[in-house]
Amino acid sequence: MEITLSVIKADIGGYVGHSASHPDVLARAGEMLARAKKAGLLIDYHVTQCGDDAQLIMTHQQGEENDKIHKLAWDTFVECTAVAKKLKLYGAGQDLLSDAFSGNIKGMGPGVAEMEIEERPSEPVIIFMADKTSSGSWNLPLYKMFADPFNTIGLVIAPTMHGGFAFEVHDVKGCKKITLNAPEEIYDMLIFLGAPARFAVKAVYHRESKSIAAVSSTQRLSLIAGRYVGKDDPVCLVRCQGQFPAVGEVLEPFTFPHLVEGWMRGSHHGPFMPVSVADATPSRFDGPPRVIALGFQLAEGKLVGPRDMFADKGFDRARQEANKIADYMRRHGPFEPHRLPLEEMEYTTMPQVMQKLDRRFTELTG
Ligand code: F6R
Ligand code: MG
Ligand code: MG
Repeated sequence: MEITLSVIKADIGGYVGHSASHPDVLARAGEMLARAKKAGLLIDYHVTQCGDDAQLIMTHQQGEENDKIHKLAWDTFVECTAVAKKLKLYGAGQDLLSDAFSGNIKGMGPGVAEMEIEERPSEPVIIFMADKTSSGSWNLPLYKMFADPFNTIGLVIAPTMHGGFAFEVHDVKGCKKITLNAPEEIYDMLIFLGAPARFAVKAVYHRESKSIAAVSSTQRLSLIAGRYVGKDDPVCLVRCQGQFPAVGEVLEPFTFPHLVEGWMRGSHHGPFMPVSVADATPSRFDGPPRVIALGFQLAEGKLVGPRDMFADKGFDRARQEANKIADYMRRHGPFEPHRLPLEEMEYTTMPQVMQKLDRRFTELTG
């Protein structure tokens, strides 16, 4: 059975500040999607939040980039914005960059990750959702899941995975893409993946079967809008078990709270903290950046779940380590590498400061 799993998300108003979504906003989203399920457009749905982002998880049989599904998501966000405006939530409607829907929600502000799959006899999927960071943050965990035998022992000892995976890498600034094969091309691949501000893994494929294994949202909001309008706060869908990494191999990379960009004013590096949905409320210096993981079993497109995978005690130490790293990074104050390099900061006063002080700069001599 062909099923499409679509996750479409947007920050349509924060409660309080940029720390969470409001229950009334999520309830409105739930009503809209319930109606679409009743009408037969959706097979199933789940609404959740990660920080100030509302997340629409939907299953259907309309395929990827379908205008009806994208319009449903757009209309849902417009309705939610009305609720957010009434409550005067912070930044109500901030990710809706256009006044009217024009057929495809991509490029209009919300983040999108979709995969059309032939549902297997048992289809476990994990949906990762992040706040206060950008899509390149999936590079390191996706590399570990699908290319690193020290993370994924299945690459070594499972005959179904031994043939490796192909990575579709997007140059989000150059608007180009390339597909590279693991394991043969990992040295070439890492030159790109190690630069997550510019290169992001869009999708991963099982090489032997060519089946989709993972897909992420790679929109860069600021590049779409031409100005800072908030962080991308990306999502990533990963299929598990069988010819794909086991659930535990998919979650394992998040025991390392690696540094990602996007903390406070989209202008700082901070540790990527794996948390339960209840704890996805970044409040300390508007962070540190969070990631949640919801697990579902698909059953003829029905979303059986979710299980809140990072609620597991096994991630307690990662959270403690993330808090330690957060303390360490914060002590740098306005200095790099806590603060992002000048050209990467989402907020800057550099042009004004330079204009004011330009005449006081003199040539270095000797
Ligand atoms: C980071 C983020 C927040 C805001 C900050 C300032 O991605 O969303 O840290 O950048 O709270 O927000 P404004 O400029 O809306 O007052
Ligand atoms: Mg926000
Ligand atoms: Mg957000």
